[in-house]
Amino acid sequence: MNNRSEQIFSNAQIVLADAVVTGSVQVVDGLIKDISESVFTAAARQRGMAKLSANIIDCHEDFLIPGLIELHTDHLETHYSPRPGVRWSVMAAIQAHDAQIAAAGITTVYDCLRLGRDEDDKFESGEMLALAAALAKAREQNRLRVEHRLHLRCEVSASDVLDDFSEFENNSDVGLVSLMDHAPGQRQFTSLEAYARYHKTKNKLSDEAFEDYMSVRINASRKYSTRHRKALANLCAMRKIPLASHDDATLAHVDESIEYGVSLAEFPTTLDAAKASHSAGLGVLMGAPNVVRGQSHSGNVAARTLIENQCLDVLSSDYVPASLLQAVFVLCSEPAILSVPEAVAIATRNPARTLGMQDRGEINTGLRADLVRVAHYPHQDSAPIVRGVWRDGQRVL
Ligand SMILES: [Fe+2]
Repeated sequence: MNNRSEQIFSNAQIVLADAVVTGSVQVVDGLIKDISESVFTAAARQRGMAKLSANIIDCHEDFLIPGLIELHTDHLETHYSPRPGVRWSVMAAIQAHDAQIAAAGITTVYDCLRLGRDEDDKFESGEMLALAAALAKAREQNRLRVEHRLHLRCEVSASDVLDDFSEFENNSDVGLVSLMDHAPGQRQFTSLEAYARYHKTKNKLSDEAFEDYMSVRINASRKYSTRHRKALANLCAMRKIPLASHDDATLAHVDESIEYGVSLAEFPTTLDAAKASHSAGLGVLMGAPNVVRGQSHSGNVAARTLIENQCLDVLSSDYVPASLLQAVFVLCSEPAILSVPEAVAIATRNPARTLGMQDRGEINTGLRADLVRVAHYPHQDSAPIVRGVWRDGQRVL
């Protein structure tokens, strides 16, 4: 018996690595088998023009792009804790998150879990571990549309970050670890004014309470950050887990990241840090919301400036899942600063290659058939429309 499954995505504007061609993509058993400029439609088959037994998907001239690859989403915790103090059923939260990620055109996602609690952390010890366990169970029970991996966001200024990390010692879902220090007066919050605006408003603090809060955070950073950064970098090197820096602002930060074996520079806050990271071969990641809004929410360098200086490699949806695809089309629509293949690459091939994934991130023969059909009508609205999502050739949305 022949169980071979075959599909043809036809009549599509196929976004390849260096061109957009109108034609067809043949998928056999979850892999891309062939790409051609022939167009097959169901109507043509009915007229006997196509001899195919394959399932033909007429894309009606929509774009066909590789499934997006998201390295840093904070959105799982939004579903798990939709209001301060509220906890949703873990499995239901994971499924809702997964569905939203799929609807955003993402087929591989690294879900952020935060390790190391700081003064205003709303999560208890053990909650991140429970989320990770439920995610593994969801996969086992075939509940998920998207391929999920874990991104452990480690707050190195927190006293308990190494204890939290040790709980993930045997977790093979961990695919990325980032080292962050959110103490005021440096990195993301070089300007104390920006820090005050962010935290005073977020936590509704009086001037006095805010002063106390700042000194606790600064002292914790002095006490723990260097030691914890080093220890975590060593543990990741031993386990061969890719390492990301976070909010590097100075050349000294970048040198330190290189020394620790970092491969991904997340959210550099200055153009100098971004340029130095990119020149050293690190993948430079910025937030897609920054592209869509045209600026950083904490007053740091704009992603567009990095693109203009040719030192941005990867975009991430950060806190708005749909922003990733939206940013891709913002960048390649008039007035475009990137071609369509270049804009798509920063959300697909570049994140894949930065983390060593060679089997996805591009529409090319032999790669996984992780595909997204997208319509874009910029004269109506800038938001692209996700018409369908396939992972390993299976339709998931
Ligand atoms: Fe940050």
